Amino acid sequence: MTSSELFSEERSAEVVVASLANTPDPRLRTVLSSLVRHLHDFVKDVELTEAEWDAAIAFLTATGQKCDALRQEFVLLSDVLGVSMLVETINHRSGGATESTVLGPFHLVDSPPRELGEQISLDGKGEPCLVTGRVIGPDGEAIGGASVDVWQANEDGFYDVQRPETIPASNLRGLFTAAADGTFWFRTVLPRYYPIPTDGPVGDLLRATGRHPYRPAHIHFIVQAAGYAPVTTHLFVADSPYLESDAVFGVKPTLVRDFPTVDDPARAAAVDLPNPFRTVDFEVSLKKA
Ligand code: BEZ
Ligand code: FE
Repeated sequence: MTSSELFSEERSAEVVVASLANTPDPRLRTVLSSLVRHLHDFVKDVELTEAEWDAAIAFLTATGQKCDALRQEFVLLSDVLGVSMLVETINHRSGGATESTVLGPFHLVDSPPRELGEQISLDGKGEPCLVTGRVIGPDGEAIGGASVDVWQANEDGFYDVQRPETIPASNLRGLFTAAADGTFWFRTVLPRYYPIPTDGPVGDLLRATGRHPYRPAHIHFIVQAAGYAPVTTHLFVADSPYLESDAVFGVKPTLVRDFPTVDDPARAAAVDLPNPFRTVDFEVSLKKA
């Protein structure tokens, strides 16, 4: 062994990357080698102190300890560092289809199936809102039978799972099936902006960096159909606070919509909503799988 093969400040990354040469999985070798190079560059760039590295390890340890079956603090960390959105954006380049955004932690694997037109606000609290839409493919073809999974926060900014003592289970959630012409519609209330959870290490990070924890008002959607690539996305309310500074960087301009007020008693009666009500239309375009 020559001294040039031993660990030194100058050759640190090269030496560690060489130790990965026999990694059987080529993708793992590529990813780990790049990670090591970037990590070593980072440590050299800021000349990390031992106290700072100890603090980083303590932070990551606390992040892991905050995780349980319902809380995933590492995903939240990835969200506030913009990594979730970057991975999402790289892996779902839309190519003209509806753009995707973060899934977030409040989706339920089993959303409650509902009939088209059903009211998803079970407590009836909030400004009434009619959501209409249509699912189409790349040539504008209707995708009848597409599944449209929706969930949102209430007028106080909470999902049902965050306040199980006061909010009915399945409030503001629904799994709809688009009609043969691709259309869907449901009744709901206007969502409100809300803070992401701040009672863990990610909250400490936001406070230490002078950042607010808020997400602008939005409705989540997962739309899927056989033969097409599914899309996980949101509709953002155009006049919501925090559109310009979403804590998790999820806003894409193509996903922002006006929710105009309709003041028309006959139309309100026809859709079984109090007058006046807000409304929005969302055409969801899916790519071929
Ligand atoms: C959400 O929109 O539900 C969400 C996304 C990322 C972090 C926290 C919440
Ligand atoms: Fe959300």
